[in-house]
Amino acid sequence: MFHKIAILGAGTMGSGLAQLFARFGIPVVLYDPDRQALDKAQEAIARSSRLHIREWPNEGEAWERVSSLLRLTDEMKEAVQGADLILEAGPENIAIKREIYKAIAPFLGADALVASNTSSLALEALAEGQPFGERFVIAHFFNPALLVPLVEIVKLPGTRTDLAGRLIDVLVHCGKEPVVLKKDCPGFIANRLQAAVLREACHLLASGVADAEQIDRAMKEGPGLRWAINGPFEITDFGGLDIWEKVAGNLFPTLDNGLTAPEPIRDNVHNGKLGVKSGSGFYDYGDGHSRVSTVERRDRNFMHLIKLKRELKST
Ligand SMILES: NC(=O)c1ccc[n+]([C@@H]2O[C@H](COP(=O)([O-])OP(=O)(O)OC[C@H]3O[C@@H](n4cnc5c(N)ncnc54)[C@H](O)[C@@H]3O)[C@@H](O)[C@H]2O)c1
Repeated sequence: MFHKIAILGAGTMGSGLAQLFARFGIPVVLYDPDRQALDKAQEAIARSSRLHIREWPNEGEAWERVSSLLRLTDEMKEAVQGADLILEAGPENIAIKREIYKAIAPFLGADALVASNTSSLALEALAEGQPFGERFVIAHFFNPALLVPLVEIVKLPGTRTDLAGRLIDVLVHCGKEPVVLKKDCPGFIANRLQAAVLREACHLLASGVADAEQIDRAMKEGPGLRWAINGPFEITDFGGLDIWEKVAGNLFPTLDNGLTAPEPIRDNVHNGKLGVKSGSGFYDYGDGHSRVSTVERRDRNFMHLIKLKRELKST
C-alpha cells in the first residue's frame, strides 16, 4: 500500500485519480500550478462524490472520508515530499512532462515510484535522462478515471519489480483491472484500438457516409455492446475466421490510413470546439449547468454498466 500519493495536474484525469485513491482510503495531495484548475477539480470531486453517495448509498462512508484524505496545493514540494507514488497527469506534451519530472526530482524519496498517465507517449522517451528511470512506469487510466476499470501498465526492462508490483496491488485494491504490457509501445493496447476506430469514424463523417449522431448510434447499438463482453479475438472466433479473412481482405484497402490527426477533429480544435469542457465539439453541450448534467448522466450510465458487469462476472 502507498501512504501518500501525489497527483500532478488537476485536470480531467488528475481530479478523477485523486478522487479514486481517496475513495479507497489513501491520503492524496493534488497539485496544479493553476489555482483555478484546483478550484474546478475540488468542485468536480464534490459533485461526483455526491452522485456516488446517491447512486451507491452502501459506499457512503468511504465517500464521506474523501474530503479529509484529499489536499489540494499549488506547491510542488508540498505534494511530492514524502509521497511514495507520484502520478503525473499533466498536459500531453513531452516538454511539459519533462519539466514536471525535473521539478519533482529534488523532492523524491529513494523508494518513490513515478507513474505517467500519458495517453500516447512511449515510456522510453519519457524516461530518457531521468534520475529515477528504474522507478518510472506508465499507468494509463481511462476517463472517467474513477469508474473505468482498465489501467494499462508499461515497464522497462530495468524497472524495479518490487515497486511495479506495489502499484498493481494498490490498483487491484481500488477495484481496477491492471493489464501489464509485454513491452513499451506508444498508445498501449486500448488507446491504439480506440484511435483506429476514431480515425475510421472521422473518415466516414468527412466522406459524408453518415453524420456524427448516426455513427455514434451505430457504435453504441452494435460493436460497443459486444465489446463490453467480448474482445476482438473472441468476436472473430464467434464469427468465424474464414468469414473475417474475407471481410478484412475486402475492407482493409478501403479503410482510412491517414497519418495526421483527422480533419474533423483539427477543424473543431481550430474553432475552439474542444468538446464538453468548452461547451461544444461534435455536439453542443450548452451552458455550464447542462455540461455538468451531461457528465453526471455519463457517469450514472457507467455506474449502471459496471454493476451489470460485476453481476455477469459473478455468474
Ligand atoms: N482526458 C482523457 O480522456 C485522458 C485519458 C487518459 C489519459 N489522459 C492523459 O492524462 C494526462 C492529463 O490529461 P487531462 O485530460 O487531465 O488534461 P487537462 O488538460 O484536463 O489537465 C492537465 C492539467 O495539467 C495542469 N498543468 C499544466 N502544467 C503543469 C505542470 N507543470 N505541472 C503539473 N500540472 C500542470 C493544467 O493546469 C491542467 O489542469 C495527459 O497526458 C493525457 O494524455 C487523458
